[in-house]
Amino acid sequence: MASKHAWYQTAIFYEVHIRAYMDGNGDGHGDLAGLTQKLDYIKDLGVDCIWILPHYPSPLKDDGYDISDYYGIHPDYGNLDDFKALVEAVHARGLKIVVDLVMNHTSDRHEWFRQSRSSRDSPYRDYYVWSDTDERYQEARIIFLDTEPSNWSWDEGSGQYYWHRFYASQPDLNYDNPAVEAEMFRVAEFWLELGVDGFRADAVPYLYEREGTNCENLPETHAFLQRLRKFMDERYPGRIILSEANQWPEDVRPYFADGNEVHMNFHFPLMPRVFMALKSGDIRPVVEILERTPEIPENCQWCTFLRNHDELTLEMVIPEEREWMWAEYAPEPRMRLNLGIRRRLAPLLDNDKRKILLAFSLLMTLPGTPVLYYGDEIGMGDNIWLRDRDGVRTPMQWDSTPHAGFSAGPAESLYAPVIDDPVYGYRRVNVADQIDDPDSTFSLVRQMIARRKSVTALGKGSFEWAANTGNPALAAFWRSLGDQKVLVVHNLIGQVQSASISIPEGVSGRLVEIFTAKEYPRLQDNMLQLTLAPYQYHWLESR
Ligand code: GLC
Repeated sequence: MASKHAWYQTAIFYEVHIRAYMDGNGDGHGDLAGLTQKLDYIKDLGVDCIWILPHYPSPLKDDGYDISDYYGIHPDYGNLDDFKALVEAVHARGLKIVVDLVMNHTSDRHEWFRQSRSSRDSPYRDYYVWSDTDERYQEARIIFLDTEPSNWSWDEGSGQYYWHRFYASQPDLNYDNPAVEAEMFRVAEFWLELGVDGFRADAVPYLYEREGTNCENLPETHAFLQRLRKFMDERYPGRIILSEANQWPEDVRPYFADGNEVHMNFHFPLMPRVFMALKSGDIRPVVEILERTPEIPENCQWCTFLRNHDELTLEMVIPEEREWMWAEYAPEPRMRLNLGIRRRLAPLLDNDKRKILLAFSLLMTLPGTPVLYYGDEIGMGDNIWLRDRDGVRTPMQWDSTPHAGFSAGPAESLYAPVIDDPVYGYRRVNVADQIDDPDSTFSLVRQMIARRKSVTALGKGSFEWAANTGNPALAAFWRSLGDQKVLVVHNLIGQVQSASISIPEGVSGRLVEIFTAKEYPRLQDNMLQLTLAPYQYHWLESR
């Protein structure tokens, strides 16, 4: 039966840093040609949609999130022909691709900013936010707390301050200027014409500034995004916007509007609570945040994730929870960055395969579309000693040959050192070794993805906590879509647990475990009795 759901509601997303993935020309940097070579691997994993980090020319002060030309390709990555070849190869495999679109700011090397700062009379002056004082918008928080003392920086040449929510080398565009909006629509059009399936819209809460507010989530921002959506729906129906709004659920909800703003939003507050639950053996933080999560329109979807290319952000927890997360997950000061933790999934979970798979199971079964971060599917490690967030962006570990099979270039050309420690080093952790081993993290994640996709209820079904004994170390819930009912049970702790779960009315038929095909009998009073090994999970489908 054809699904009535839009593709992004039941898809698996995979986030790729082009520089880190595969070097196609031996210069030590991953590139578009390299990524194109690896599409069969991505397809084999079960991914439906690739999200690539910024591919544009950039001085790389923020790893490409500082764009100096919206219409080009970073020379390390190739050229527009390589980009077209990638899009074609993606589509030929039935995959989709969304690209990062950084609308809030440019690089200070962008021609618009060069012109803007060249003189107060420049026609580009108003492309950015200038001020005689640095006292305006004092209620706006600083995001890159470890490095930026203020959201204003002084421009000596033109004698005014300019506004930036991120690094000083990333001046914010001025969306009160209609010319800026028109420019951004042209940029969107350019990439949509090249066939991209949508955008991951970077840092959208900060597009506008208004005195007396925290300059986030303003009505003007929503109106702008709705105009962009309308433009895309009219000209490029089916292409999506996935917005990055790192906000509380009630503040993210307006980004879906009436189903006429963005299609998808990351669920930022859920992510740290999954880690809280895994560490404390108590699912209640997840229960609470899902209770606090409003319903969203039919044509929208959350994106869930465990890790991404940034620090594990702790912006969406209260201060006591943040201290607890730091103490538990970032015992060394170097592991902390801004309001987060610069570590990868496997090290965060003690490199314990049971915990890693448990985390993936939560990702695959909680409401939303899962977004996997490259390398986590093989349990890659990190390098906290690299600068900024580079330690979670090291070369993908393909095999045990030199440079992990990532690059044929000389060692000194590599953009970052390959992880080479005894535990996470590429000789121990790599794709080639895991792909044919049915018990490897890769194979088990691949299998989980395949199962998840075979059960539509896990993509778009309703969600309900299961009535159990009230034991918070068991995370048990039902996902239902029409007649399809799936009970998912997770044991969050390192001890064997038994679970008595009452089967609600309306769930008929046999209950069969999806991975093992084992049938679980209904007991008297419609109870189900399960025993779970440490960190074990079961997905039971009624058939
Ligand atoms: C987003 C990106 C992050 C970047 C920032 C500024 O938060 O995920 O990597 O530094 O925006 O563009």
